[in-house]
Amino acid sequence: MKILKIDGGKNLKGTVNISGAKNSAVAIIPAAILCDENVRISNVPDISDIDALKEILTYLNAKFEKKEDGDIYIGSCNIVNKEIPANLSKKLRASYYFMGALLGKYKKAEVYFPGGCTIGSRPIDLHLKGFEALGAKVTKEDDKFIIEAEELIGNNIYLDIASVGATINIMLAAVKAKGLTVIENAAKEPEIVNVAMFLNSMGAKIRGAGTNTIKIKGVSTLKSCYHEVIPDRIEAATYLLMGSVVSDDLTIENIIPEHLEALTQKLIEMGADIKIYEDKIHITNKNKLKPTNIKTLVYPGFPTDIQQIIATVMTQAQGVSTIEENLFENRFQNLYELQKMGARIKIDGKKAYIKGPIKLVSSEVTATDLRAGAGLVIAALLADGITTINNSDYILRGYENIQIKLEKLGAKIQLIQI
Ligand code: EPZ
Repeated sequence: MKILKIDGGKNLKGTVNISGAKNSAVAIIPAAILCDENVRISNVPDISDIDALKEILTYLNAKFEKKEDGDIYIGSCNIVNKEIPANLSKKLRASYYFMGALLGKYKKAEVYFPGGCTIGSRPIDLHLKGFEALGAKVTKEDDKFIIEAEELIGNNIYLDIASVGATINIMLAAVKAKGLTVIENAAKEPEIVNVAMFLNSMGAKIRGAGTNTIKIKGVSTLKSCYHEVIPDRIEAATYLLMGSVVSDDLTIENIIPEHLEALTQKLIEMGADIKIYEDKIHITNKNKLKPTNIKTLVYPGFPTDIQQIIATVMTQAQGVSTIEENLFENRFQNLYELQKMGARIKIDGKKAYIKGPIKLVSSEVTATDLRAGAGLVIAALLADGITTINNSDYILRGYENIQIKLEKLGAKIQLIQI
């Protein structure tokens, strides 16, 4: 297990460069096997989720090479389409994208129920419903799904929930299906647009990504292409929220501010000292923050991934803030850890009430999932003295070089393998 030890209470300052988006890269890499030739992908973040995908691709005998410039080359012409074993499937949530990619290319996929953060039951019924609508038969053997089709035929698919994973997975299965597939009530996250652009640059015919309705016209071949992963809006949000409480001069660069609008508007409402430029944002903790209320929604609403991080900032606001978590039924675990550091929080079902301001106290806490861990990093930077964050492996799943990036800003942080 990896732990982070942070000696907090210090002012951070400087510039942090945002890496490629985890939730885009973890879909693009499995999607690459749909191509009949090699693909080159740039701005892939160096995080453990990508290492897990490399393991799966290598297991399938695909080529996965990282070049000196950091670009990733993926070649899938020698793939052996076989069962992806549980130990690999369960390393991350995004292993489920191999269902859509292998089904879309080989008309068969054998993948176990995915891993990922335990923020809820996280069913995949909408993914499977989409595959069946395209003509696939889904058989479940214990925790393994066998998905196969004689042929895949385009169809109209309505998603009961605008699920990110289901939208992307159905897109992957549909790009080579016969005829037109229409996904209604599709998720609109920027990562979905990034994946659709990747597929279109290989020759797929996808229209409407980023809107409620995505149309996919099946094609027979997909050619070599080059693609760049967009900046990670959740990593950017993490450093922005950090800056709002522990820095008197922080610039977050290499971002797409439009992707962060729900958060930047909220920070402006809270009275944060924030300036937004074309591809960077400057923020300081000079202003006392007003309390606020958030309700998590699908994009472009307030992101559920950011609620766990802003919770820490709310402990510093001048009054009671509220969070309503509407997407996942178990996404308040971080609040119990913040209570260990002195935070005054009441949890009532899907609502949490956070009373600030409070001086957090350094303590030993545990990251229960990726974004919970990110929120605890900010709490540790706020508290005087040394805070230990156990299970920091979660944090390394989604934050490239977090220790180096924080040290550059003046943080005292140690990453220890125990
Ligand atoms: C993606 O998870 C992200 N993960 C999550 O980020 C993010 O929190 C989530 O989208 C919502 O934005 C990746 O992209 C790898 P969903 P995903 O399907 O696809 C229900 C992080 O921190 N649902 O949009 O699993 C589901 O239970 C991670 O980077 C079904 O009921 O999320 C949830 O309530 C954590 N049936 C809601 O939909 C299904 O078949 C939204 O889930 C699928 C989903």
